[in-house]
Amino acid sequence: MLDEDPRAAALADHLVADPIGNEDVDWDDFDSRAYFEHNYGALRWDDTAIIKIIADFFKASLPEKFIGHAIDVGAGTNLYPALTMLPYASRVTLYERAYSNRVWLERTLPKPQESWGRFWKEISTTRETYDRISSPFDVLADRAEVVKGNVFDLKPNQYHLGTMFFVAESITTRDDEFRRATRLFVESLVPGAPFAAAFMRNSSGYFVAGTRFPACSVSEEDLREALAPVARRVEIETVESDDLRDGYCGMMVATGRKR
Ligand SMILES: C[S@@+](CC[C@H](N)C(=O)[O-])C[C@H]1O[C@@H](n2cnc3c(N)ncnc32)[C@H](O)[C@@H]1O
Repeated sequence: MLDEDPRAAALADHLVADPIGNEDVDWDDFDSRAYFEHNYGALRWDDTAIIKIIADFFKASLPEKFIGHAIDVGAGTNLYPALTMLPYASRVTLYERAYSNRVWLERTLPKPQESWGRFWKEISTTRETYDRISSPFDVLADRAEVVKGNVFDLKPNQYHLGTMFFVAESITTRDDEFRRATRLFVESLVPGAPFAAAFMRNSSGYFVAGTRFPACSVSEEDLREALAPVARRVEIETVESDDLRDGYCGMMVATGRKR
């Protein structure tokens, strides 16, 4: 996902002693353009692998004619979680804390960058439910709503399907906040609703345009434990990835349903 920096691992020990909570970070300064260019300016092979997992999961979990209210929590500058929910969503809430990212989303929806065409091709080729949407970006712009929001303020039982990508473990160094964000995301869905969420594995933090952001180092076991009270039919897949930043060991994609 993010800028490599040799200082990241060295800071990890310090962060254990001196945790950084979500409130300690000025999210409004998040450099949206740098983050987009580094992560989504081109389709990467790790995102290709994640797309396969989640598009196949939504297709298998929902009836073809299903249509409901979707949410992507901490959308940042990433459109592909929302795109994977598009055939099943009459509304897509792009829920984001950072002012900079909300402005980026509002500007991007009517005029998406070229790279998103590659992401859509990856999602829709070989998947009829997606392929029959002839103007996906017009449909997304029509159905999406950018909402100022904090994961810790999500209300239960609101949405019919949801995604949360690189948020719960990438907004804090605190284990309790990672677990609470993961739980509140799943609880915001109605019972039985399918979800897909992505996490960096064992991350020690990341840089965006030279500014350091916190991460909580989580394993597959930590993720399983965080999801167990609120989710059923949980599957966790690891996606190899090693060149986005120092100090992480691939990505994890969790799919399941709210209890
Ligand atoms: C590492 S980025 C991930 C962005 C995007 N989902 C992706 O897949 O690349 C973390 C995102 O979480 C947002 N964020 C930080 N704290 C948040 C909070 N308390 N509630 C909701 N979003 C938050 C940040 O502004 C940022 O967009």
